[in-house]
Amino acid sequence: MPFPREQLETVVNEKLCKIETIKLRNKYIGQACQLFYRSDPLKIVRGQGQYMYDEQGTRYLDCINNVAHVGHCHPKVVTAGSLQMATISTNNRFLHDELVQCAKTLTSKLPSLLSVCFFVNSGSEANDLALRLARNYTKRQDVITLDHAYHGHLTSVMEISPYKFNQPGGDPKPDYVHVAPCPDVYGGLYKDKDYQCSDMAEIYSIPIRGICERLKLQGKGVAAFIAESLQSCGGQIIPPAGYFKKVFEAIRSVGGVCIMDEVQVGFGRVGSHYWGFELQDVVPDIVTVAKPMGNGHPVGAVITTPEIANAFYNTGVTYFNTYGGNPVSCAIANAVMRVIDEECLQENARLVGDYLLKQCRELKYEFDIVGDVRGVGLFIGIELVKQRDSRDAATQFAHWVVNRMKEMHKILVSSDGPNDNVVKLKPPMCFSQENADEFLLAFRECLSMLKKQREGDNLPATNAAAITTTTNSSMELLSNKKQIFERRDHLIKSV
Ligand SMILES: Cc1ncc(COP(=O)(O)O)c(C=O)c1O
Repeated sequence: MPFPREQLETVVNEKLCKIETIKLRNKYIGQACQLFYRSDPLKIVRGQGQYMYDEQGTRYLDCINNVAHVGHCHPKVVTAGSLQMATISTNNRFLHDELVQCAKTLTSKLPSLLSVCFFVNSGSEANDLALRLARNYTKRQDVITLDHAYHGHLTSVMEISPYKFNQPGGDPKPDYVHVAPCPDVYGGLYKDKDYQCSDMAEIYSIPIRGICERLKLQGKGVAAFIAESLQSCGGQIIPPAGYFKKVFEAIRSVGGVCIMDEVQVGFGRVGSHYWGFELQDVVPDIVTVAKPMGNGHPVGAVITTPEIANAFYNTGVTYFNTYGGNPVSCAIANAVMRVIDEECLQENARLVGDYLLKQCRELKYEFDIVGDVRGVGLFIGIELVKQRDSRDAATQFAHWVVNRMKEMHKILVSSDGPNDNVVKLKPPMCFSQENADEFLLAFRECLSMLKKQREGDNLPATNAAAITTTTNSSMELLSNKKQIFERRDHLIKSV
C-alpha cells in the first residue's frame, strides 16, 4: 500500500475535539441533514471490516452500514482506488479499461437481457436516470410506486418517495405518481392474519392492476413501476412469493416498464442470489445500483435492455455525466465485485444470515414484544409490538433498544418502518457468526430489560452510566460478553 504509517496516523488522529466538531457542524451544516443519535452523536474516525471506531478508540460493531459492503476500508478496494487516483481520473468521454470491465462484470451478474450500462454517482441519480429512460421509451409520464418507498433525494425521485413526501412538511405528490400499498403482510394494509389461506401476492397486486386499468381508461397508460426488490425503508419488507410476477404482468400489459431499485439490497446481500429481484424469479427492464457498489465511494449505475437504451440514444440528446464512470470509481467497483467473489461474501451472507434469522426467531418464544422476524441473507428486520394480537407498534421500545445497543453494548443498529418499530440489520457482508452471537447476546439483554419493565420494573436510562441500575443477571451477562468479545485492535492493520 502506498500509505506510510505516519500519514495514516494523521488521518486517524482527531483534528478537533468532539465538542468543537459538534459546534462547527451546528454552525455550518444545514440542520435538515440527518445525524444518527442526534442527542449524543457518534464521531467515527476510522473503520475496519465490520467495525467502526470513535475518537476515543471505542469499537462499535456495525450492523447498519450496508454501504461498507465488503467491510470498511477493505485493503483491496482502497488499493484499487488509490492506485487509480494516482494514475488518472478523468471522465468517460475517453476510453478506459476500468469502465468497460466494470460494465462487463456488472452485466455478467444480471439476466442477459440487461446488457447496457450507464454510470452515475449515487442511487438518486440512478433512479432519476431510470425514470428518464422509462418515460422516454414509453412516451408516458405516470409512475407507480409503493407506499413507504424511498428512492432518493433528487426532486424527480422525491416525487416517487412516499417515505419523504408523506412527512408533514413534504411536497404534495404530483398527479402523475400513483401509490400502491407496500406488500407488508405483517403490518401492512392487508395483514396475513386477516387473510388466512389467501394468496397475499394476489391481494397486494390487485391495487396495482386497478391503477393500471384506470390509467389505461384515462388514455395515459403507465411509464414505469418502481420498487425496491425488498423494501428497506418500509421496515425490511419481504414481498410475498409471486408478488413481482403479478405486478410485472400488470405493468407490461399496459405498456409500462419495471424498474427494480437494488441500491440497498444488491450485490449478494440476500445470500441465495446476487440480486434481490431474483428471489421472485422476475427480470426487470431496468435495474439501479449504487451504495454497496463503491463500498463507501460514490458510484452507481443503471442497467437496462438494448431496446430501452437505443430509444434514449435515438432522442439525439447525448448523455454526459462528469463523474459517472470515472476510472477511479470503476476501479473501486471492480475491486468490490472481485472481493465479493474471492471472499465468498454472498455465501457468507447466506450462512450467517440464516443463522442470525433462526436465532432471532427463537427470541419470539421468549419475548412477546418480538412480533415478527423476517429477512433473507444479511437483510433482517425485527418488528417490536406492544401486543402480538393487535400488532400495535412498540415504537418507543424500539428507540430505547437502538440507543441501549449503542450506549451499553457498542453495537450500531437502527429502527425504521412506517411506525419506526422495526429494528434493522444490514451489516457489512463480512459479518461473522461470532458477530451474530455478539448481537444476539446484547439484543437479548435489551429484551430482558423490556420484559422486566413490563412486569413492573423501571427501565434504566440507555447510557452506560446507568449500568449500576441493571440487575445482577444482566451484569453477569455483560461481563461475560466483555470477556468473549473484547478486542484490542486499535490500529489500522488493513492498509
Ligand atoms: C432504496 C434506495 N434507493 C435510492 C437511494 C438514494 O441513494 P443515494 O443516497 O446514493 O442518492 C437510497 C438511499 O438511501 C435507497 O435506500
